[in-house]
Amino acid sequence: MPVTAIIGAQWGDEGKGGVVDYLAQDADAVVRFQGGANAGHTVIYKGEPLALHLLPCGIVHERPICVIANGVVVDLEALIEEIRLVGERGMSVTPQRLKISDRAHLTLPYHRLLDGQRESADSPSRIGTTQRGVGPTYVDKVDRIGIRFLDFIRPDDLKKKLKRNWEMKAGQCGSLAGGGEVTAETLLHSLLSYYETVVQYAEVTDTVVVLNQMVADGKRILLEGAQGTGLDVDFGTYPYVTSSSTTAGGACIGTGIPPSRITQVFGVAKAYTTRVGEGPFPTEMTAGIQEEIRRRGREYGATTGRPRRCGWFDAVLVRYARMINGFTGLILTKLDILSGLPEVPIAVAYEWQGRHLTLLPADTRVLAECKPVYEILPGWTEIKRSLRKWSDLPDNARRFADRISQLAGVPVAFVSIGPERDAVLFPDEADSFWG
Ligand code: IMO
Ligand code: MG
Repeated sequence: MPVTAIIGAQWGDEGKGGVVDYLAQDADAVVRFQGGANAGHTVIYKGEPLALHLLPCGIVHERPICVIANGVVVDLEALIEEIRLVGERGMSVTPQRLKISDRAHLTLPYHRLLDGQRESADSPSRIGTTQRGVGPTYVDKVDRIGIRFLDFIRPDDLKKKLKRNWEMKAGQCGSLAGGGEVTAETLLHSLLSYYETVVQYAEVTDTVVVLNQMVADGKRILLEGAQGTGLDVDFGTYPYVTSSSTTAGGACIGTGIPPSRITQVFGVAKAYTTRVGEGPFPTEMTAGIQEEIRRRGREYGATTGRPRRCGWFDAVLVRYARMINGFTGLILTKLDILSGLPEVPIAVAYEWQGRHLTLLPADTRVLAECKPVYEILPGWTEIKRSLRKWSDLPDNARRFADRISQLAGVPVAFVSIGPERDAVLFPDEADSFWG
């Protein structure tokens, strides 16, 4: 039975939350494998939007267990707040349903401070992060000084580690931390109390074993990617990226599920493109239309509330994402938002120094100099949200989806035409996803 990865094909915010929510109804496990509270995955729960940051989107369904796997960096304060919010909305989070990897690293207050400091307005190395401390947490992981859930088993060791780390970091972030009120002892004290709270709602366990057992038992596992291919630390628009492997390979690293066991990889792309934060964006729209699409698509960050930059569909980026991730299908979201435009451009290549590029260049400075080459497709008037059949889509909307599929080199698995869970259309009459 399939182990399915859901991966962002652009710069994040592709609508992965809605897709995972839809597929999670029939899944046995929904797994976050990288990133942290920088993610903002929106699902509709009882008619109202719910933004999840650390909890897998499967939490809104009865059937699947939810796993925060080893590749995720966990901010306990943020997780507790999210469990509280989800509880208020009537969902119960229990250790039977929520599993956290004992190998997962913790985001501590000093990571958030360091992230914020680097991002201060006058900093030359500003990249427009979400300031959730995610980058500095991964720095410590790779530097081999990170604090993991495993460390709570030996509080004395934890105390020593924390003391050593704080001595190293205090100089860097002491002034921001409020004039020396923070000490290794106060950090330890609050960390232990957060941990005591979290274990009332989640089981900390060896999720590598749990997940591989589920694979062996033929269970349906949904791997919920965060961010997107353009933000991958290796393959994205470095340095304007996040600090983790957001691509399909990252799903193996971040869970311990071997590559040979991943059976399907679905790329999620919006019918246009958005980006939050700094970094080149070849298909960014001109101001007027950009505001219009932002308004229609409600393109404001689910984590930070920042307005997202909006652009046309970039087939160069999505083709590149297909190559890196080996997409077996593409899920196209928010097709309805483009309705009513007389013409819909798609970037089919970039022009750079008289050359045509058809894949993302490695050098982000080159990308910044690229001019998109557009193919102009005719628009469509309206997509009724009540549509449930592919053949009922306006002809030009279908042509748009078909052209994207052709340019990206991957079949369209389904499209979404609204935020509701069932606002999805399958081009094949067979609409069973799990096979
Ligand atoms: P989801 O999962 C969109 C962007 C930030 C910034 C860069 C680095 O909702 O798609 P970080 O805080 O990760 O160090 O910031 O990455 N970014 C996202 N953009 N969607 C996200 O997550 C993002 N998570 C991080 O805006 O440009
Ligand atoms: Mg988001």
